[in-house]
Amino acid sequence: MNVINNIRQMRSWSTINKGTRCVFVPTMGALHEGHAALIRAAREIAGPSGNVAVSIFVNPLQFGPNEDFSKYPRTLIEDLSLCRDNGADMIFAPKAEDLYPADRSIVMHETSLSKMLCGASRPGHFDGVCMVVAKLFNLVQCDDAVFGKKDFQQFAIIRRMVRDLDFNVVLHGIETVREADGLAMSSRNRYLTPEERTQAPAIRTTLLAARDAWKAGESNPAALQQLITQQLQEKAPLGRIDYVTVADAVSLQPVTAETEHVVIAAAVFFGAARLIDNIELK
Ligand code: PAJ
Repeated sequence: MNVINNIRQMRSWSTINKGTRCVFVPTMGALHEGHAALIRAAREIAGPSGNVAVSIFVNPLQFGPNEDFSKYPRTLIEDLSLCRDNGADMIFAPKAEDLYPADRSIVMHETSLSKMLCGASRPGHFDGVCMVVAKLFNLVQCDDAVFGKKDFQQFAIIRRMVRDLDFNVVLHGIETVREADGLAMSSRNRYLTPEERTQAPAIRTTLLAARDAWKAGESNPAALQQLITQQLQEKAPLGRIDYVTVADAVSLQPVTAETEHVVIAAAVFFGAARLIDNIELK
């Protein structure tokens, strides 16, 4: 496995490997079983003769001023073994000063999907995600890229960026990997106190309850939203709800008569940790 940490080496790896299918998994490190599933999926897509590339980079641009950028867990040694064990061929772990020149003056700005859900409470977050993913796509020169559907809005926005900017990259979305009690795996779960950890799976159970209600005929977004909010307040009193939203899964806008595919997304703060999850209704 190649470990590359500067742009010059990254470009020469891409040049040498031109013509070999490259499947890319962008991450911020602090890797867990959810990331491992993405890397294994990438291995599957690449086949035995293709390359699986993983980036590990805590992107300063996507953190707000009061967010956890400096506290974000950095576990490079363990991350490298997880990548190796799951079939990665190349790891790109650049430094922020290499990726972002001090006088950079071009910005990315998504104007529609990022107004909703997480974007509403994290202004600029998805612009930062688009910037880094666009730069990584250019540097890694991948044919395919794999993202987790846990970050449902991120995946929708990257899809939009690839379409609007004509990136020649095929995107793959992978189902959320969960702990045994249903909590979506996240690098931020390690911020939870033991008591918060016992309440956090309520995010999943209330989303499942809403899906049951929807299957039983409840299609009113406000009613579904209220059901989740109420149950979350009961089951997870330590949680502070950021949002619970029922949306069109493609536009992320409110559900309309034309909506074919619905997503319910939620974000809940437990102390310092902001946890997100979602469920698709099909
Ligand atoms: P990060 O949070 O490290 O996540 C990297 C990838 O792993 C994302 O595609 C995310 O959706 C996926 N992932 C995280 N937890 C998962 C789980 N439990 N099951 C399945 N997939 C999971 O998302 C980012 O980093 C960054 O925003 C990034 C795209 C790298 C840009 O900086």
